[in-house]
Amino acid sequence: MSAAVVSPSADQEFARYRADFPILAERIHGKPLVYLDNGASSQRPTAVLDAERRYAEHLHANVHRGVHTLSQRATDAYEGARERVRVFLNARTAREIIFTRGTTEAINLVAQSYARPRLGPGDEILITWLEHHANIVPWQMVAEATGARLVVAPIDRRGELDLPAFTALLSERTRIVATAHVSNALGTVLPVREIVALAHARNVPVLFDGAQAVPHLKVDVRALDCDFYAFSGHKMYGPTGIGVLYGREAILESMPPWQGGGDMILTVSFSGTTYNALPHKFEAGTPNMGGAVGLAAAIDYLDRIGLARIAAFEHDLLEYATERLSAIDGLTIIGTARAKASLVSFTLAGVHPHDLGTILDQEGIAIRTGHHCAMPVMEFFGVPATARASFAFYNTRAEIDRLVEAVAAARALFG
Ligand code: ALA
Repeated sequence: MSAAVVSPSADQEFARYRADFPILAERIHGKPLVYLDNGASSQRPTAVLDAERRYAEHLHANVHRGVHTLSQRATDAYEGARERVRVFLNARTAREIIFTRGTTEAINLVAQSYARPRLGPGDEILITWLEHHANIVPWQMVAEATGARLVVAPIDRRGELDLPAFTALLSERTRIVATAHVSNALGTVLPVREIVALAHARNVPVLFDGAQAVPHLKVDVRALDCDFYAFSGHKMYGPTGIGVLYGREAILESMPPWQGGGDMILTVSFSGTTYNALPHKFEAGTPNMGGAVGLAAAIDYLDRIGLARIAAFEHDLLEYATERLSAIDGLTIIGTARAKASLVSFTLAGVHPHDLGTILDQEGIAIRTGHHCAMPVMEFFGVPATARASFAFYNTRAEIDRLVEAVAAARALFG
């Protein structure tokens, strides 16, 4: 990301958005909440909460099934949300937008429906060393079931992908490439355009786990030219239990359904079943309509602020936090990629991350501690866990000051 130039007025403007998030006024252990666990789950603005409530109070019934007015309202709201996601991602058609429970389910869908029927012994699935477990385990399951091999491209000490090694590992046996767009444990922004170009030169499709990218940077699936893109609502100021799989239409058409049930069929008889068209073919059972509506409201909210401005502001927070945390004696930042989204993972000499998390919680500061569902990353850096502060546009420099003071105090007391 380019260096941010954030004026004091931008600082004030972004601080004003805090009022849109009721939960930010909470006090924890008597102290004002400093919420720095946005990488795990971000908070929801009133606009999203209102949209979910309005849906429940005025629009809710089951979708695609009833001729009655409420069912039609619910269907319109749900399909309207799909169209909103299509515009957000710049997908060609709403048939390319599959609602899922989240990123994890979206990746499992591709693993089971795209990869599993196509792969056999000796075929390869190429991922990277910095993946979240959700972009490792589904591929291990497919590899186990088919005899395919999981190939892992290395990273370097900064936490950047080793692109020459990645290139060398792409082989005539590679059947799919699946990587993060942004690493949840390190913040690294991966060279996604290069990854697509390299993979497509070998006719290999590419899936991106975009869970940590969509809240921070503008994603255009047509410009990226990726084949699949997965993300979750709850990391981008939307509800939990809703996410999206974007898939290129021709590829989705070629894939069999994954889960069977209502809504994904056209006809069912004991002599055989015919399947519904895209996107419904991949949405068995009653979907999360309220969640989809909330997600669309989150997209509207983000669009009103502008993701480019959010990225610039968050970059400023990242630089400020990096500079101040680095000055603490005994603190080591894990993940120093040149292109980084707004999170800092670190260790503190003499203080286990879990203890640090508990100490900070007493000060009202919420961070995540542990392996961040990325155990291979911890193994690579030779640490059992890290502390991770992940920022949203509603965070402030003053909150980072409180984090820094509390971390420095913990180091002085226990380190
Ligand atoms: N994947 C989430 C995180 O990074 C839970 O914290």
